[in-house]
Amino acid sequence: MTETPARTQIADQAAYAEAVRTAVEAAAAYYGEGDSPLDDDAYDRLVRGIAAYEAANPGHVLPDSPTGKVAGGAVIGDVPHAVPMLSLDNVFSAEGLENWAAGLERRIGRPVAVWCVEPKLDGLAISARYRDGRLVRLVTRGDGAAGEDVSHGISLITGLPARLAEPVTVELRGEVLMTRAQFENANAARTGAGHPAFANPRSAAAGSLRTLYRDYEVEMTFFAYGALPLEGTDPGLAARLGELPHSQIMGLIAEWGAHTTADTPVPGVTCTELAEVHQQVERIAGARATLEFGIDGIVIKADLAADQADAGTSSRAPRWAVAYKLPAVEKITRLVGVEWNVGRTGIIAPRAVLEPVVVDGSTITYATLHNAGDIARRDLKIGDHVTVYKAGDVIPRVEAPVAHLRTGEETEIPVPDACPRCGGGIDDSQKRWRCAKGRACHAIASVRYAVGRDQLDIEGLGENRIDQLVAAGMITDFADLFTLDRDRLLELERMGEVSTDNLLYAIAIAKTRPLSRVFCALGVRGTGRSMSRRIARHFATMDAIRAADAEAFQQVEGIGPEKAPVLVAEIAELGPLIDKLVAAGVNMTEPGATGPAAAAPPEDDGQEDGGRAEGGPLAGMSVVVTGSMSGPLAELTRNQVNELIERAGGRASSSVSSKTSLVVAGEKAGSKRAKAEGLGIEIVTPEEFAERVADHL
Ligand code: IVH
Repeated sequence: MTETPARTQIADQAAYAEAVRTAVEAAAAYYGEGDSPLDDDAYDRLVRGIAAYEAANPGHVLPDSPTGKVAGGAVIGDVPHAVPMLSLDNVFSAEGLENWAAGLERRIGRPVAVWCVEPKLDGLAISARYRDGRLVRLVTRGDGAAGEDVSHGISLITGLPARLAEPVTVELRGEVLMTRAQFENANAARTGAGHPAFANPRSAAAGSLRTLYRDYEVEMTFFAYGALPLEGTDPGLAARLGELPHSQIMGLIAEWGAHTTADTPVPGVTCTELAEVHQQVERIAGARATLEFGIDGIVIKADLAADQADAGTSSRAPRWAVAYKLPAVEKITRLVGVEWNVGRTGIIAPRAVLEPVVVDGSTITYATLHNAGDIARRDLKIGDHVTVYKAGDVIPRVEAPVAHLRTGEETEIPVPDACPRCGGGIDDSQKRWRCAKGRACHAIASVRYAVGRDQLDIEGLGENRIDQLVAAGMITDFADLFTLDRDRLLELERMGEVSTDNLLYAIAIAKTRPLSRVFCALGVRGTGRSMSRRIARHFATMDAIRAADAEAFQQVEGIGPEKAPVLVAEIAELGPLIDKLVAAGVNMTEPGATGPAAAAPPEDDGQEDGGRAEGGPLAGMSVVVTGSMSGPLAELTRNQVNELIERAGGRASSSVSSKTSLVVAGEKAGSKRAKAEGLGIEIVTPEEFAERVADHL
């Protein structure tokens, strides 16, 4: 984040007039149909450029300039707001926040006693009027003085109950947005009904709220961030709303039954020190990528009514609150192509090739497109402008085409009719297409995976060597490694006596790896390292795994009714490979595991896996590891750390939730650490953790 954010350079009056016209059009589209041709970042840059030009040329300001106006002056409505719906001033850095806070404290002549820190929800502002506890009217912000009546949307919004728990007459203010899931569903329903997709959740919410009639279903979510008295509000309540701190008003709203952020991983919190405010800003920013809904910043407010009253408001925004803007995680760019790649299990996955665009600090050139059905559902075309989303370490994804930017030059995305790797047939019976040859299509990738550090860990078997062995016809799968002939190896280029014997030794060691690693090496779709460990510990032997039906697999934590039958089918498909491994003498048991017969008693509801070490310093704990490891753990792979957790009696998990007992956070720990802090979960350094589990290292 920079202190002086980038702005469009405007050289002369003609460029200025053009910039004003573009901004006014974009604001009208944004607040109208919700489909602005500029993304938020580009719009902000443009308006900052306009403001800079106006500051230097005050005599040449155009009357329709968007600067200093709520909603860029774009919208006028016909339902007046009793109290104007204002905007917020922005800061872009910790320093900007410090300066703003110092200015506020100077203005009120004392330190701000309590701060409130909340997520800035990325939707549209709504006023919801309740009479005697019944929701009677819904009005958009409009130009701040008057908005549009969108009461027809009342039934579409969760979190905004038709009836409150108490018969209060009150106006709730908050944000209406679509969660990721609501957006996906809305777009599926909308494109299914033959309409163009919404470009992003925000425009989907804006567009849907303003639509009177539609032939498809949508759902939105409301989060309140304020409450005001209305005409007819009980004087006692009106007085309380004028006197209570903001944080307590939020508590009241939640008691009435409307949504606030209290039930999300980023609830609003109060702080008494500015240093703590900065920490909370970091915490919310860190959790951004994990949230179900979009946030575009953090709002910092003076909590006490007296501080707010003394600060007052400008014509545009309150002086007691500010938005700490976060960089945009959604950008518009062009889809220039689609690649179809074959993975190690034979899955044929499409990948979007984009005109490079910087999103959340990194340049994005590729984004996931999931599968062919998904492309059709999103109605994507080559040449389309598309919205791309990326936050934190999530895989970038294409959300939707920006339909109104189409020129007619766009072309259909070519869909392969043969496997792009081997030219053979495609099995398109499932959502995710697969080469009809399955794993055999990309044997080299399967072998590479199988010998990897977290699987069989065969040293000296790099990519080139595997390619060489496959090309020489000596292996077709990784089971063939265990029957390699020394003399034939010696005939290969760059294979002397020493390297041959070293390789054969490493392969012999690999035969003795625990079942969890051998199973992982199979590369069963839908199982990674930790799932393989759970399966191996639960069943204890490969025979038991092969004998298990879908129901038996569901006894393993993390395997539900959808995944279980896929596993059964995959393991059956891998039967010949497993037979070869058995014949070659590869270990097929998990040390220390006793199998399902000795598993936990029924009241354990199947949530625990049977073979985990009994007792141990982490008994009963769910542990998440994040960031880079240091100290005694520095040399361990993530998989080895997870194995260590399980040896010490704990359960390794990859995501933080309220069920997490402990987080091991190393350097560069990001959103997981922030989420754990938010949930009040114990966090330790790798060194502290190593001490706790020293006996199991
Ligand atoms: S307080 C006087 N709190 O951001 C305005 N606003 O850019 C007081 N917003 O118009 C608003 N999350 O629509 C507030 N936690 C939050 C918010 C929030 C999102 C929106 C709101 C406002 C806009 C300003």
